[in-house]
Amino acid sequence: MTDKANPVAVRVRAPGKVNLQLAVGELQEDGYHELATAFQALSLIEEITATSAEGISLSVSGTVDVAGVPLDESNLAYRAALLLRERTGVTDGVHLNIHKGVPVAGGMGGGSADAAATLVACDALWATNLSSAELHTLAAELGADVPFSLHGGTAMGTGRGDELSPMLSQGRFDWVLVTNDEGLSTPRVYGELDAIRQRLRADLPVVPAQPHLGADLFHALRAGDPVRLADALHNDLQAAALSLRPELAVVIDLGVREGALAGIVSGSGPTVALLCADAESALEVHVSMTAAGYNSFRAHGPVAGARIVSAV
Ligand code: C5P
Repeated sequence: MTDKANPVAVRVRAPGKVNLQLAVGELQEDGYHELATAFQALSLIEEITATSAEGISLSVSGTVDVAGVPLDESNLAYRAALLLRERTGVTDGVHLNIHKGVPVAGGMGGGSADAAATLVACDALWATNLSSAELHTLAAELGADVPFSLHGGTAMGTGRGDELSPMLSQGRFDWVLVTNDEGLSTPRVYGELDAIRQRLRADLPVVPAQPHLGADLFHALRAGDPVRLADALHNDLQAAALSLRPELAVVIDLGVREGALAGIVSGSGPTVALLCADAESALEVHVSMTAAGYNSFRAHGPVAGARIVSAV
C-alpha cells in the first residue's frame, strides 16, 4: 500500500531551460558576474527517481548521450542530496536514478534540473518538509540556474541569475535545439567574455554596472508573439561562445535559412536554440537540421518547474 507520508520511492521531473535574454555585467569580486536574464523552462525534462538506500549513490540513463556524466560527488545531484542532509541533520541514504532528457553540458540547465529535482525528491523521501523558500536557498547554493528549475515557467533572474521574479507570458513557443558532441565549460565561456571585453574595451560600449532586460522582451512574451520574441532574443555570452566555437555561427545561419525565425546560443552554449513560428515549422526545421547531419531536438516552452510525479 502507498504511504505518502513515508514513501520509499519518489519520482520527480524538472525542466531544462533556454535564456531568452542574457545580459552580463562586470566580473565581481566573488568570481561571478552580475546578470539580468530571462529564463523559459522547456519540455526537455530530467526525471529523477529517489529510492531509500544506504549512503548516497547515482545511476544515469537517458534519451540524450549520457557518456561523461559523473556518478560521484562532482555530480550536482549528489551534492544536492548531501547539502539537504547536512542542513537538516538527516542521516538516511538515497539512490538517485537520473533519466536525462536535457543535452549534457549544453547550456540548457540539465545538471541544474537534476539538482532541483533531487532537492524535491529527497525532501519528500526523507520527510524533511522544507518550505519553497528554504528549497530555493539550498538551490541557489548549488548553482546559479538551480532555483529556476524549481520555479519553472518564465522568470527574470538577477544577481547571479538566482534572484527570480515571474514574467507574464502567453501561449507556447516552439524551439529546435541543436546540440554539439563536445560541451563548453561555463567558467571558460565567462572567462572568454572577460578577455574579449578587456581586449576591445576602447571600442565597446561601457558594460553597465546593473545589466537589464530589454522592454521588447516583456512585450513579446505578454503578446505570445514568436516573431517579436525572435527579434528580442539576445545573449551577451554568444560572442564568447562563438569565439571558442566559430562553427556555431554556421548552425545559427543554417537554422534561419531552413525556416527558423532566429537562432541564439543557449546560455553558455554550445547548444544552439532556434525559435520557430509554430510546432509545424519546428518539425520542418528539425528534419532539415537532422538531414544536414546535426543532432537536434524539438521542445516547447514554457513548462512547469520541478514536480513530484509519484511517491510510493
Ligand atoms: O553557479 P554555476 O555553477 O552555474 O556557475 C558556474 C561558473 O559560471 C561560475 O563558477 C562562474 O565562473 C560562472 N558564472 C559567472 N557569473 C554568473 C553565473 C556563473 O561568472 N552569474
